Amino acid sequence: MDGTYRALWLTEHGDLEVIDQTKLPFEYETKMLTNADESVRAIKDMTVRGAGVIGNVAAFGVYLAAREVQGNIEALRPLAQAIRDSRPTAVNLMWAVDRMMTLVETSGLTGDALVDALRRESILIADEDVLRTEKIGAFGADIIERIMEEKGLERFNFLTHCNAGWLAIVDSGTALAPVYEAQKRGIDIHVWVDETRPRNQGANLTAWELSQAGVNHTVIADNVGGHLMQHGMVDMVVTGADRVARSGDAANKIGTYLKALAAHDNGVPFYIALPASTFDFEVLDGVAEIPIEIRDEDEVKIIRGIDAEGRATTLQIIQSASPALNYGFDVTPARLITGLITERGVCDPTVEAVEAMFEDLI
Ligand code: MRU
Repeated sequence: MDGTYRALWLTEHGDLEVIDQTKLPFEYETKMLTNADESVRAIKDMTVRGAGVIGNVAAFGVYLAAREVQGNIEALRPLAQAIRDSRPTAVNLMWAVDRMMTLVETSGLTGDALVDALRRESILIADEDVLRTEKIGAFGADIIERIMEEKGLERFNFLTHCNAGWLAIVDSGTALAPVYEAQKRGIDIHVWVDETRPRNQGANLTAWELSQAGVNHTVIADNVGGHLMQHGMVDMVVTGADRVARSGDAANKIGTYLKALAAHDNGVPFYIALPASTFDFEVLDGVAEIPIEIRDEDEVKIIRGIDAEGRATTLQIIQSASPALNYGFDVTPARLITGLITERGVCDPTVEAVEAMFEDLI
């Protein structure tokens, strides 16, 4: 990406401006976050979402919280904890708050000097993500080129689930970074886009991102992926992740596991793209240990869109008498994953390979 796309940025007054992702693709609006409470609410109500961007808002949120309490560390701690607790699954959130609070607890700074140091640290985290996602893009595009050569393809069919593009992690995304890099390399790439329920993040966010970038794509209902794979219409599946265990088990948006099963059954390579900040090295068994968010049933019962006049509207599609259950994520076991595309290279999804590549972080 050329840096023109960003999901969030600091204003000249030092507030955090974010794209309101609940409004896309029909309306483009931004929201201003000025303190800890607004940061927590933006994460909880998914104004901002995607593991990387959640981490960025958490980091900026700690800086905004410090500004709110004039750099008083005692007053900052509970605000930082509230940010850390705002969503359970994406570990980038905890990682970012812990990194910011390590600075608070070890720098010896207080007051304005602490606020300023935290502002600079949160900018640094976002800048690091830009570099990480560029590298993920390059390693992923190398795999695309290799598969094209092996299969003698003129056009590459890529499938992704949910949104792991620049709306989810600055600046190029994780799963979509290889797509943007392939486009730069002049590869004819077409993307099958899903997650059409419960949140429509493929349909609403990934499809919007890809049209902005001029990438060929087709939105499919969540149940279509297996059929496409059976008919040789998918060359590679790549998704992002919210938390990846030391064993390679990967939590991502609900429905990812079913894509991995279908890919495995049909011999389609299935990759997870992630920065190192998405690993939870403490977790060995992802299915048993990764906390899975359960969200409001209204996200299943009510859909959002535009009416025939183009006005934003919502529609209830399930009778009020029926309860709904809304799991946000599932875990894909490492045995179904071909490889982990990281900023350090492509890693086998095994304890041994993860420990060897990320030894210094464990
Ligand atoms: O509930 P969300 O929208 O925050 O979940 C997003 C996903 O599952 C993404 O695929 C994931 O965060 C990877 S993005 C770096």
